Amino acid sequence: MTEPIELTAALSTFDQLWSPRIVTQVNDYDVRVAKVAGEHVWHAHDDTDEFFLVLDGELTIALREQSGERSVVLPKGAVFVVPRGTEHKPFSKDGASLLLFEPTGTLSVGDRHDELPGHVDATTGHALSG
Ligand code: NI
Repeated sequence: MTEPIELTAALSTFDQLWSPRIVTQVNDYDVRVAKVAGEHVWHAHDDTDEFFLVLDGELTIALREQSGERSVVLPKGAVFVVPRGTEHKPFSKDGASLLLFEPTGTLSVGDRHDELPGHVDATTGHALSG
């Protein structure tokens, strides 16, 4: 049975940073939410684009593109798609809540990544509990 999901309530069920929760699925895609603060890790998804929507706070995404490195700043309400194969590193100085849309099974740290810091969860998304 499908019921509406209130994202604020979903976000209130966990505190772990950089550890996405799967709130629902659309065909073969997950809709995930995550709380983030500080730096993630440089990584790339070789086979899929990755969609970001900032629900609260502000997110910066550093990108390594053919023309060089740049950063995009996403305020609350902004969306951005990291193209497949593009190395990226999300960062939030003061913390942010995100909605991610990506194929089920997509690893949060990509198919290749720098050495994982201890605060970064390598996951294909956790179930929402409670
Ligand atoms: Ni990514």
